[in-house]
Amino acid sequence: MSGLLAKVFAFTAGVGDNFNDKPEPLKIGLIGLFSSTTGCSTVSGSNGSPRDLKAGGSLHGRVRVPGDKSISHRALLFGAIAEGTTTIEGLLPAEDPISTAACLRSMGTMISPIQSGEMVTIEGVGLDGLQEPSEILDCGNSGTTMRLMLGLLAGREGRHFVLTGDASLCRRPMNRVGQPLSLLGADVRGRDRGNLAPLAVQGQRLRGAVVGTPVASAQVKSAILLAALTADGATSVIEPAHSRDHSERMLRAFGADLEVGGEMGRHILVRPGATLKGQHVVVPGDISSAAFWLVAGALVPGAQITVENVGLNPTRTGILDVLEMMGASINVLNRRDVAGEPVGDLQVSHGPLKAFQFGEEIMPRLVDEVPILSVAACFCDGESRIRGAAELRVKETDRLAVMARQLKAMGADIDEHPDGLTIRGGRSLKGAELDSETDHRVAMSLAVAGLMAEGDSRITRSDAAAVSYPTFWDDLERLRR
Ligand code: S3P
Repeated sequence: MSGLLAKVFAFTAGVGDNFNDKPEPLKIGLIGLFSSTTGCSTVSGSNGSPRDLKAGGSLHGRVRVPGDKSISHRALLFGAIAEGTTTIEGLLPAEDPISTAACLRSMGTMISPIQSGEMVTIEGVGLDGLQEPSEILDCGNSGTTMRLMLGLLAGREGRHFVLTGDASLCRRPMNRVGQPLSLLGADVRGRDRGNLAPLAVQGQRLRGAVVGTPVASAQVKSAILLAALTADGATSVIEPAHSRDHSERMLRAFGADLEVGGEMGRHILVRPGATLKGQHVVVPGDISSAAFWLVAGALVPGAQITVENVGLNPTRTGILDVLEMMGASINVLNRRDVAGEPVGDLQVSHGPLKAFQFGEEIMPRLVDEVPILSVAACFCDGESRIRGAAELRVKETDRLAVMARQLKAMGADIDEHPDGLTIRGGRSLKGAELDSETDHRVAMSLAVAGLMAEGDSRITRSDAAAVSYPTFWDDLERLRR
């Protein structure tokens, strides 16, 4: 261990030799417990966290959103299976990546504490170095953790793993990963024919395969790519549409033998045998978190906001295309490339917005931004239509149903469809008793709706925002001053 690393680890080790046993500092007060009836974890310490939200006012200033969630998970996972040390700058210090780090620690990976503003250091264990954990791996609320972990663990021959998560995660479909992985010889079992967590993975020697994924999902694709790294023979993954490509970019940077081809990069070929080497990863700000400020800045009268250091990977920028279609005033400044990902600062100011329509063709590029766009639609004159968004029903909550329910409580005119929403905007919303229904992106979307309402609101379970943006409420306060 290097001197610097030894210092970081010694500082956090506390009592005993094994610092990996130490609870993550940020999780204090939110210690996971397992329900004796479902085997899914529950979260203690949450009191419903109602938050009063005053309507009106404006938003001004600069804001730096926390690190990209997708890139943060991948930096932790790839760092863990690389050889040597990986350092991560700007890792998202939020509940979801903390779940990924906790799982990796229980399998013997040394990861320094995840704290805001601190570099994170990982001592990689190599492609097949993860140990069989003595405890259940708790993925918390994080679908990315569970799905990528399934791919990572499927090929750990002779080792057994049990994965669970909170009540929301235990309801989310996992056979979209288990099924394609079974083509490589994976053994994943669970309720509903292996579809629902808790899940058991019996590590196998895997064989390469040609896999067409059932949905354009970066989680599914990335799980297969991870499994393919140690399979016997090459693996091809073919997606129905191009999903976010952070795994491809970062795996190549770590030294994987990976080729991207086909129309729009929908075809990925992995040849096993390459050793991953520890890297220095710089995580840009998350465009999915910036989206709340982009929409708020465009909607709130007099607003002017600059969101700094935002990741602008073209597989993620659908929100910018829709805002442009709406006539929003957004400037991209300081475009640059940081560690293999495009980055820029986004300047937004208030102005009139037009109604919009989009369908499945853009969905992989803005899947996480549909809740905040449904808020935007309420304040545009005319009818906005969101279609091809059935995937939203299997996110942390059924986001189409939850957004329709919560916005209707404010008086919005919304029709819900199996794959989308029709929203007739231009009428004012009234402040109301709202509920995030435990979903981080719903909590933050409702905050923006509340600012624009006539009359104050109260948002229950507002602390859900901490899953991806722990400082959201503080940033909101600051921008309102
Ligand atoms: C993610 C992929 C998307 C996205 C999620 C993060 C990832 O999910 O909604 O927030 O990091 O790969 P799907 O793969 O289900 O589309």
